[in-house]
Amino acid sequence: MSVLSGKKILLGVTAGIAAYKSAILVRALIKKGAEVKVVMTPSSKEFVTPLTLSTLSKNEVHSSFTQEEDENGQWNNHVELGLWGDLMIIAPATANTLSKMANGTCDNLLLGVYLSSKCPVYVAPSMDLDMYQHPSTSTSLKKLKSFGNTIIKPSHGELASGLIGVGRMAEPDDIVAFIENDILGALPLYGKRFLITAGPTFEAIDPVRFIGNHSSGKMGFALAYAAADLGAEVCLITGPVHLQADRDSITTIPVTSAEEMYEAVHEHFGPCDVAILSAAVADYRPKNVAENKIKKKEGNLSIELVKTKDILQSLGAVKSTKYLVGFALETENEIENAKTKLKKKNLDLIVLNSLNDKGAGFRSDTNKVTLIDKDNKMLSFDVKPKKEVAMDIVQYIIKDLHA
Ligand code: CTP
Repeated sequence: MSVLSGKKILLGVTAGIAAYKSAILVRALIKKGAEVKVVMTPSSKEFVTPLTLSTLSKNEVHSSFTQEEDENGQWNNHVELGLWGDLMIIAPATANTLSKMANGTCDNLLLGVYLSSKCPVYVAPSMDLDMYQHPSTSTSLKKLKSFGNTIIKPSHGELASGLIGVGRMAEPDDIVAFIENDILGALPLYGKRFLITAGPTFEAIDPVRFIGNHSSGKMGFALAYAAADLGAEVCLITGPVHLQADRDSITTIPVTSAEEMYEAVHEHFGPCDVAILSAAVADYRPKNVAENKIKKKEGNLSIELVKTKDILQSLGAVKSTKYLVGFALETENEIENAKTKLKKKNLDLIVLNSLNDKGAGFRSDTNKVTLIDKDNKMLSFDVKPKKEVAMDIVQYIIKDLHA
């Protein structure tokens, strides 16, 4: 899922030949999961039809302060439209519109919407090379930058005039990528890599049976989403769960057993900055895995169990400056046990789940946690949806990383 998913985007189209690319831009934005409303300058309708843009955006397209086709002359509320957008893109932006934006002219709906908007504004200029190089255009762009608008530079190439130079509007896919990177770059975890474990592990007894636990993976997945939504690249190593991560910046690595999780974690630990081990890893596994299904016999059956490797502890031994977070699921002496684990496994933070708390633990959609850091500072939260708990934990990590 892109950072543009769910975003409300105002697309302003002005009268440049690149207006035909606005249709492709609308489609690209819709594909990313954004909602798009198009506002056109009157002359831009000579380059691309409102019907094309309204069909692709699945929204009405407006180009004047009143609805021309409406006998009652109903007003297109530019203020409401301006405030609707989470972000605004003006592509193509002609020299004429750039100049009007820079000078506060408001002689069409698009300019009214621009002046009313409070959201980030991206501008993709499009014009002939000499117009682009003219001091008047440079002055407009300089002014727009000083207003906090972001300019998506035009590229070099053949222009509608037949001349070759800088002035071609950036390609729609490049505009989308630019905006995605710009949004990501402003997020607090941009450039950070997280490794997160989730779910249970299954330890085979024979080809059809295993030792497992009730972990659903919901907490680990919620942590992965929280980190990704705040800009991190996430490597999510998960035991068998019925969940699928839907963020572009999450790479999922499915594993089954504790041994496989150990191998995967160590393979991916190197480049990561923060590791959160929330998986419910089996502490023991059958010493021998029967090659064939174990048949029922008279009397009882004993299975010898051997210890699995403690993944978290093994990371604590080699973590150096990486930030390491573990979970502790306790039923008695909760705080003491959690503090002991924090020290023993050389963690920066431990997330304590008490099974004595209502609304905490496996399978449920809520959790109640207490965070304990390496200075023994404690912070307890109320019962909350796991999504919010995950955000609390990730926000705490961000604060600690900057402390
Ligand atoms: N953990 C791990 N590898 C294991 C067992 C646990 O990485 N083989 C991690 C879990 O992902 C969790 C933390 O260790 O982050 C604590 O798990 P928990 O089961 O509460 O503690 P244990 O150390 O296994 O101790 P005990 O079960 O005795 O409480």
